[in-house]
Amino acid sequence: ATTLGAAAAQSSRYFGTAISAGKLSDSAYTTIANREFDMVTAENEMKLDATEPNQNQFNYTSGDRVANWATSNGKRLRGHTLAWHSQQPGWMQSMSGTALRNAMLNHVTQVATHYRGKVYAWDVVNEAFSDNGDGSRRDSNLQRTGNDWIEAAFRAARAADPGAKLCYNDYNIDNWSHAKTQAVYNLVRDFKARQVPIDCVGLQAHFNSGNPVPSNFSTTVSSFAALGVDVQITELDIQGSGTDQANKYRTVVNACLAVARCTGVTVWGVRDSDSWRASDTPLLFDGSGNKKAAYTAVLDAL
Ligand code: XIL
Repeated sequence: ATTLGAAAAQSSRYFGTAISAGKLSDSAYTTIANREFDMVTAENEMKLDATEPNQNQFNYTSGDRVANWATSNGKRLRGHTLAWHSQQPGWMQSMSGTALRNAMLNHVTQVATHYRGKVYAWDVVNEAFSDNGDGSRRDSNLQRTGNDWIEAAFRAARAADPGAKLCYNDYNIDNWSHAKTQAVYNLVRDFKARQVPIDCVGLQAHFNSGNPVPSNFSTTVSSFAALGVDVQITELDIQGSGTDQANKYRTVVNACLAVARCTGVTVWGVRDSDSWRASDTPLLFDGSGNKKAAYTAVLDAL
């Protein structure tokens, strides 16, 4: 195979990218994106502030632009994200209690209903655990509505779009020995035991010098999969350059390939210049659209 998507398809996996609606008029960008990837995540356009800027006034203009680009080019869509403490619209940031809980559930229902039938997998809840090393929940307005807010969101998403896989997505859950990883593992195990609808875990996999690819990464992937959920690498980017960066990409991709239920990899942007962390040059294409050493390592690994 000569493209990432076709290479991943050889093992029935996908290879995706984050897409930004504002770049869909850049033909250098769309040429690479269309050629190489077969799964699309909207980088910002389906988040809460974008889709419900005012309470109960939904705006799908930019999200639909990304979704339509994906479907018209034969690509599947990952929905990102229905419930998150960040990138909330102002009206939601100032809400609390039952009103916030109901607003969150309404948001999940409305957005998942709008995209029903078009989304392969939704990141239903994003980043609900804290980084403080004790495995606790992140303190947020959503968490303060009650510890069961995550399962309530998953149940609402299932009711609205029974055909979409429902994922819990987070960062810093790559190292199996970290408390945050264990906390998410315990959440998923509990959901499976109580038949709360959950189908997948998304490992964001944003790696840099302070947060390196852990040596036990493949243990993390296989351990989540053993709970009976799919695992997806959802926002991969790795700071660096040259052979060193290429080796790190190869390690991550091989960890997915080693686990049957690791169903795909998404990188968080097309070219380094498109990255939310552009100075880290963390992606597979340089700013001129040239394939980097990391690209070749991934293609060869797939
Ligand atoms: C980032 C986008 O890439 C940026 O454009 C935006 O300014 C902030 O959000 N975890 C996530 C993603 O789940 O939604 C974030 O995306 C990166 C971290």
